[in-house]
Amino acid sequence: MSILRGKNIVLGITAGIAAYKTASLVRLFIKAGAQVRVVMTPASKDFITPLTLSTLSKHPVHSTFTDNNDDGATWNNHVELGLWADLFVIAPATANTLSKMTSGNSDNFLLATYLSAKCPVYFAPAMDLDMYQHPSTLASFKTLERFGNIMIPATSGELASGLIGQGRMAEPEDIVAFIEKDILNKLPLRGKSVLVTAGPTYEAIDPVRFIGNHSSGKMGYEIAKTAANLGANVVLVSGPTHQKVEHNLISVLPVVSAQEMYEAVHQYYEHTDVAILSAAVADYRPKNVALQKIKKKTNTLSLELEKTKDILASCGTLKTQQFLVGFALETNNELENAIGKLKRKNLDLIVLNSLNDKGAGFGGATNKVTFIDKSQTITEFELKSKTEVASDLINEILKHLHA
Ligand code: CTP
Repeated sequence: MSILRGKNIVLGITAGIAAYKTASLVRLFIKAGAQVRVVMTPASKDFITPLTLSTLSKHPVHSTFTDNNDDGATWNNHVELGLWADLFVIAPATANTLSKMTSGNSDNFLLATYLSAKCPVYFAPAMDLDMYQHPSTLASFKTLERFGNIMIPATSGELASGLIGQGRMAEPEDIVAFIEKDILNKLPLRGKSVLVTAGPTYEAIDPVRFIGNHSSGKMGYEIAKTAANLGANVVLVSGPTHQKVEHNLISVLPVVSAQEMYEAVHQYYEHTDVAILSAAVADYRPKNVALQKIKKKTNTLSLELEKTKDILASCGTLKTQQFLVGFALETNNELENAIGKLKRKNLDLIVLNSLNDKGAGFGGATNKVTFIDKSQTITEFELKSKTEVASDLINEILKHLHA
């Protein structure tokens, strides 16, 4: 899955012969799952028609501040478009447009959109080799990079003039690959290993029965997805759930019992940067598991239970570089109990769910949480979807990692 999936891309086209290649570029962005809006300089329309680009992008193409139609003129809102964009890609970028971008010139719709955009801006220069090497062009490159814009360098080869040298716009496939790689490299959890536990555990009574709980696993799966979307390599140790996840940065390790979860966690914990233990692990399990199905011969049946290993506490004991997060589900003395758990289990952060809050805890799609960190700073949140809670949690962890 491309990192461009779901992104809003404004593609700005200026008047270079390489503009004819932007039809492929639009298609590649769309194939990657992005939404594309095209803006053009008026002169670029000599190289490729707006109709081609509006057909491919499935949206009108803008090149002027107003459009004349049967009902009179409509104003094209460059500010809205600039703010809509998650990425602004200018390809091909001529020496003329690059120079205007450095000086705040906004005498066409594309330039006004550029000035309004708050998102990352990529530009792929295309021009003849001497223009590419001219000190004024090199100065434009430098200034734009100082502005934080990202250059996708031109390649060398035969140019439209017949001369051979650097100035060819990067090929559409290479532009897409460049942007994808750049975004991935800048993700805040890039290169970090994150271990997440999720779901319930099932503790066998006999071959067909178990002690379990109502955890759906949704919270843990949302945490895993959020971390992976921010570039982390995630190991998700999951008890039995109906949750599904497909992400090339998430490896799912299915387990059933607390003992299996303990073993899976410790297989990875040593080399983990962040461990988030959100699973609802059984605290007790049947001491003896019957080898055959238990028959209902007696009026009452007693099961002797023994404690399972506390996975979170064992992680706290072994902690070196790991940032360790635990969950606490409490019904009374919530804060006091959660702080006790944070200290006892040597955690960096604890996420408190109070069962007294409506919509919090197991099963549902929402959760209401309070974060308590090691210095006992308490942050309370409103009732939110579990996806939003996951994002709040990862943001909180990022704050601590960068502190
Ligand atoms: N946990 C764990 N292994 C266990 C039990 C719990 O890793 N065997 C983890 C949970 O994943 C959660 C945290 O510990 O992150 C909270 O567990 P909880 O059952 O609420 O707390 P306990 O420490 O078991 O305390 P108590 O039962 O007294 O509330």
